[in-house]
Amino acid sequence: MTVIANNCPEIYVTLLDTDEEKVSNWNSSDLKNLPVFEPGLSELVQKNRNKNLFFTTDAERSISKADIVFISVNTPTKTKGLGAGYASDLKWVENSARMVSKFAKDHTIVVEKSTVPVRTAELIKEILFNSNLKSKNCSKTFSVLSSPEFLAEGTAIKDLENPDRVLIGGEDKEAIEQLSLIYQKWIPKEKIFVTNLWSSELSKLTANAFLAQRISSINAISSLCEPTGADIQEVAKAIGADKRIGEKFLNAGPGFGGSCFQKDLLNMIYLCRHYGLEEVADYWEQVVILNEWQKKRISKLIIETFFGTVTSKKCALLGFAFKSNTNDTRESPAITIARDLIENGANLYIHDPQVSESQLENIFDEKNFLSQKNIYEGNWTYVNALDEAFCDADAIIIMTEWSDYLEIDWEKVSKTMRQPAWVFDTRGIISELNLKGKNLNFWQVGRGFIPIK
Ligand code: UGA
Repeated sequence: MTVIANNCPEIYVTLLDTDEEKVSNWNSSDLKNLPVFEPGLSELVQKNRNKNLFFTTDAERSISKADIVFISVNTPTKTKGLGAGYASDLKWVENSARMVSKFAKDHTIVVEKSTVPVRTAELIKEILFNSNLKSKNCSKTFSVLSSPEFLAEGTAIKDLENPDRVLIGGEDKEAIEQLSLIYQKWIPKEKIFVTNLWSSELSKLTANAFLAQRISSINAISSLCEPTGADIQEVAKAIGADKRIGEKFLNAGPGFGGSCFQKDLLNMIYLCRHYGLEEVADYWEQVVILNEWQKKRISKLIIETFFGTVTSKKCALLGFAFKSNTNDTRESPAITIARDLIENGANLYIHDPQVSESQLENIFDEKNFLSQKNIYEGNWTYVNALDEAFCDADAIIIMTEWSDYLEIDWEKVSKTMRQPAWVFDTRGIISELNLKGKNLNFWQVGRGFIPIK
């Protein structure tokens, strides 16, 4: 929405959230308080806020004045009830639709931006049109469109400024044209695809499923490289040069994280089962299973490297965000690996340039975070300074590909670590040339144990 405000000075963009603290942080004069860390975002907020970009909790005022309402709320995987563990929880989409139906005036275009199960637009339409029927002499009318978001965290502004494509799904030609004209302010028309509602919703789920599948594929191959002596980076380069495959999204790692891939895959699996497509559901489920397995195999490998026990070992865990350039830890592979190590008695010293101590507290203090298996009483400590994590450490585990970790002075670090000292690089970002002669042992994803001479 900030990017729309920035590219369309004549349009008033109001962001409505019911969470007062969040809105107050969005309005904070100290840009460090913005609730989301995203490169380039604070500059755009600063430039446009209170000109044509506003943050509010006032639902009635913001909706009644709007010609277009974008529903961009969370749709997490259901934890209870029908479809628990697979289906998306649409309660916030539903609440939003009810709010729109209550406060909207005249004609309102409602755009579904959240990633939703196919045919959610039907639910939105039903809420909007039915509540309308109840009120006599009601002059409200609605058009529902789908325009899913394809941005990735960490590169969101860049992705929005120059998207590969934009989708608009719907039937109402006039509404489609109005939304298209907004995008056309900065996006070439040929990149704006118009589809039916359901194609638009399904394309979003499919894009994420294909991307996640690609990561599970390369991670599966990484596990095959390690015992065979093949090198995942060489394999990725070789296959990526084939234009039909393409070079992007072929970095082996500790498994995909983030709020979207797993949720959307589970959603897709649920949808397939709903339509009786068992084999198709199983096919996509394997992508999730492989992702879980990749995380588990890495924690097992670390523990086995220490002859089956990491009890009282000091491990520096570098990075906790699910990828670099974000402070988002949702579904981060670091969570699973940290849990496994703590349950096996390790003392983790966790560093991340953007994730705060309170974020970690929320994760680790959650009820049932550790299973009964935590009999060895491992622990975790948050560190601001890398040196604190390295001093007397038995292992350094790189979990997120932050550029900060490329700057590590391995000569200095190795002198402060306890011997035998290990470096586990789950992101494949460290060159063994930098570890040469430093008395360090090295493991890297998709390359295995690499002798350092
Ligand atoms: C993903 C999609 O890339 C976006 O197109 C989509 O809009 C978004 O989900 C969404 O549905 O909201 P995001 O989750 O922000 O974006 O981040 P990605 O860059 O896709 O990374 C996802 C995970 O895959 C991260 O844990 C990342 O480290 C991992 N990954 C990515 C790899 O392990 N290897 C790669 O080569 C690429």
